[in-house]
Amino acid sequence: MINWILKKILGSKNQREVKRLWPTVHRVNEFEAEYQKLSDEQLRAKTDEFRKRISDGASLDDILPEAFAAVKNTCRRLIGREWIVRGRPYKWDMIPFDVQVLGGIALHQGKITEMATGEGKTLVATMPLYLNTLSGNNVHLVTVNDYLAARDAEWMGGIYTFLGLTVGIIQHDQPPQIRRQQYACDISYGTNAEFGFDYLRDNGMATSAETQVQRGHFYAIVDEVDSILIDEARTPLIISGPSTVSTHAYDKYKPQVAELVRAQTMLCNRFVNEAKQLLENRNGEKSTSKELDQEEQQAGRLLHKVRMGMPKNKQLLKMMEDPEVRKLLDEAELAVLADSSKKELMALKEELFFTIDEKQHDSDLSEKGRKFLNPNDPDAFVIPDLVTALQEIDSLPGEDGEKEKKKQQIQQAFDERSEKIHNISQLLRAYCLFEKDVEYVVQDNKVIIVDEFTGRLMPGRRWSDGLHQAVEAKEDVAIERETQTLATITIQNYFRLYEKLAGMTGTAETEATEFENIYKLGVIVIPTNQPCVRKDEHDVVYKTRREKYNAIIKEIEERHRKGQPMLVGTVSVEASEVLSRMLKRTSIPHNVLNAKYHQQEAEIIARAGQHGSVTIATNMAGRGTDIKLGSGVTDLGGLHVIGSERHEARRIDRQLRGRCARQGDPGSSQFYVSLEDDLMRLFGSGRIANIMEKLGMKEGEELQHPLLNRSIETAQRRVEEHNFSIRKRTLEYDDVMNKQREVLYGFRNDIIQGDNPREAIFDIIEEVVEARVAEYLPKDKLADEWDIDALLRWVNHSFPLGLRRNQIEQKTADEIRQVILDKVQKAYQAKAANENPDALKAIERLIVLNALDRLWQEHLYNMDQLRNGIGLRAYGQRDPLVEYKAEAFSMFEEMMDNVKSEIAGNVFRSASSLAAFEDFMRALPQQLIAPDLAASMSFGQAAAARAQQPMAGGAPQQGGDMVEEAIEQATAPIRRDAPKVGRNQPCPCGSGKKYKNCCGRNA
Ligand SMILES: Nc1ncnc2c1ncn2[C@@H]1O[C@H](COP(=O)(O)OP(=O)(O)OP(=O)(O)O)[C@@H](O)[C@H]1O
Ligand SMILES: [Mg+2]
Repeated sequence: MINWILKKILGSKNQREVKRLWPTVHRVNEFEAEYQKLSDEQLRAKTDEFRKRISDGASLDDILPEAFAAVKNTCRRLIGREWIVRGRPYKWDMIPFDVQVLGGIALHQGKITEMATGEGKTLVATMPLYLNTLSGNNVHLVTVNDYLAARDAEWMGGIYTFLGLTVGIIQHDQPPQIRRQQYACDISYGTNAEFGFDYLRDNGMATSAETQVQRGHFYAIVDEVDSILIDEARTPLIISGPSTVSTHAYDKYKPQVAELVRAQTMLCNRFVNEAKQLLENRNGEKSTSKELDQEEQQAGRLLHKVRMGMPKNKQLLKMMEDPEVRKLLDEAELAVLADSSKKELMALKEELFFTIDEKQHDSDLSEKGRKFLNPNDPDAFVIPDLVTALQEIDSLPGEDGEKEKKKQQIQQAFDERSEKIHNISQLLRAYCLFEKDVEYVVQDNKVIIVDEFTGRLMPGRRWSDGLHQAVEAKEDVAIERETQTLATITIQNYFRLYEKLAGMTGTAETEATEFENIYKLGVIVIPTNQPCVRKDEHDVVYKTRREKYNAIIKEIEERHRKGQPMLVGTVSVEASEVLSRMLKRTSIPHNVLNAKYHQQEAEIIARAGQHGSVTIATNMAGRGTDIKLGSGVTDLGGLHVIGSERHEARRIDRQLRGRCARQGDPGSSQFYVSLEDDLMRLFGSGRIANIMEKLGMKEGEELQHPLLNRSIETAQRRVEEHNFSIRKRTLEYDDVMNKQREVLYGFRNDIIQGDNPREAIFDIIEEVVEARVAEYLPKDKLADEWDIDALLRWVNHSFPLGLRRNQIEQKTADEIRQVILDKVQKAYQAKAANENPDALKAIERLIVLNALDRLWQEHLYNMDQLRNGIGLRAYGQRDPLVEYKAEAFSMFEEMMDNVKSEIAGNVFRSASSLAAFEDFMRALPQQLIAPDLAASMSFGQAAAARAQQPMAGGAPQQGGDMVEEAIEQATAPIRRDAPKVGRNQPCPCGSGKKYKNCCGRNA
């Protein structure tokens, strides 16, 4: 009832909206009638005229009737002309109908227009695209696959070219320079993934303005908008690259570990057999008392050992089926745990080569195991005590530089060793806990995870933390490098970038709430050009899937005998295949489409309306392709659509139905449902089974009833709501990231596009110095409590100042800060004097980008971990989203702090060439050169190598500090004031040269 009222209200609201647009349609037609008198040249000149009027202040709305009329009139002139669309000649035959103009107006207004299949949405979009690009902006048409992007751009290209506009097509395999050309056009056609990835690459990875490809986000029309903004919105766009986090050497340790596991297996089998013997020796007499006797205790202890060493040992698992044995085991475990001195546990462990903890995902080598792996140096597998070692160095006499070097060596040794131990530990897990054909399968030289709940293969998914690599090593298949997220955005947040967004589809109405809530997009339903005469039959319901499929085949056979074409929709590739197999047995020729080969499938589905044709297709296959009826088919009732299952979303079912009865053609549709279908099983069977009971249905019978249709719809609505809440949740989490992304990308773009990276760097240095001064010389403490030494150490480690204690003693914290900043300025001028200004600017830019990118990627990684772990907090009665926000915020702050410190620290550690670097070092007074700084300088070569890396989807950027890039002239002077020096005086940097020939060269 409430639904009915709502519909009534919504319905009339829609009618009112549509009514309001009609007068504009009439004005378009009036202009178009006038334009018929113009010559082709005069019509073409309209484009420039409109552009001029807009730059003179006219609004797009003012121009709309004329611009739309120009497009419509162009269509009229093109009638009969031929051009090539996707390799085939095509003859133009369309002039927009009034309802198409109507739809175009709604698109210009930033609405989602629902127009039925076959109403000609491709043509509708040309009018608002033309109008909106007149403002000088690049406008986007977003489709679902590369084939449709190219087809539509070429198909509609005739109109655009006639009117003097350029059209670009973005395709998956294009390199950046080609993409840039496509975006340079007035209108660009492409898929949502390509648009989204280009955005991520432009803003998160490009290192100069020249390598960015997009020209902003002004206006986009999204075709098949429900599929893109709703179905695809569940998975975010992710660019990933090889991980920077670790380098694994699994294949190296694999043979050793395999040996070790073999030894342990033999050992454990021996323990099991001993335990068996012990129990058998008692001749099956079980102790009557509650206490375990000696043999039992002994056997329990042995089995417990096996459980620690090989938790999945086959014999052990078999024995554990006996509850008596399990009791023995538990007692033994208790006894071990009860021993507070842990002596018992240690003793047990030392009898094994290693122990494995299934729950903790942990393994531990024993002394015995270490000796086995490396008889000469078992300590190679012990993690050294880093803290003690570092303290020891500090306590011994020696020069600071020496000590620092030693510490670094120890740190490095520590890292290498823990890496090795981690590798071995993961290999042990791979061998002992993961069984082939249970946890995973090996196919095509790949390890594929098996989902533990559904048993389905999960290609593409990988275990984390090196475990997948370990299993790959175990199975001798190619070990893939670990990947990590380099850049990511949800579809929702990508499309929110547009100043104006519009969409079109045959089915939007059922998702109107979501479009409104998430995208602020209203839905308007445009009436069809011809009344729709499709006959939608009631659903037929069966008890079992088998009966349902049999009924479908029978139906197909009957209609096929008459020659009526049919389209059979399925919800999965699997269902398509079952139906195809069954049809083969009846020898009915048919096509099967799985939305894989877009172009071929489009061509096949275009013929689905021909006499006698049978086409089985999953719901996305051939979407956007027109099905025209063959001759004589109209008399047979047109195309008949069979739905072999109700989809989770009503929208998808409507989409399928809409494939027939286009433009007033005849057509019919019917859905087949069984109680075994997923939808029915999970969301609706109880009620429906009741109804069927009441209506007295028997095995093998079918049932049709309006009541059933209603219950099925209720089930669908439940799933829709459920899925909506999932998407909303994903978005709530991504919103946190979105804000951070905006800040970071904004900063990054300022550096790439701005002309003065040095200014940004010095702002950062100032901030960092200020923070350090505040840290070591806190305002609330007396000067003699300050940690001047720490400050000096930091300053001299970061900058080549050679700052000494006596230079800053007896000064206030503010004065000290100023002294440091002045010296940094001066030192930087000395450096700049020896550099080519263009090269230096490129270096400066890269210093910032390197720090930003490296730490941002690390941050993305940490955010992933946070997101994965946060669900657990829900158990603590806290809202995980709130927790996530708080933690994400502090992580971001920390990251930005680290970025700044890193930038400050790297400013002096780079030079464009060895010569410039040597000049710089010579220019500095010798005592000013901090030894560790000199050691960590890096040169052009490494960075130049980096510059040659491809920009798109490439490797993470790290390491090198500079690159030679063609950068426009003009170095801006550093903003802050340096002390005044006469041009002919000796340079204050101590080089002995005149100031004008040294640091003053650019001043
Ligand atoms: N004004 C027109 N005059 C004549 N034919 C037209 C007109 N507009 C569209 N058509 C024809 O209608 C058919 C369907 O067009 P189109 O593929 O653009 O529809 P659609 O609304 O995008 O459908 P779908 O929902 O399947 O994507 C095409 O064959 C096209 O030539
Ligand atoms: Mg279409």
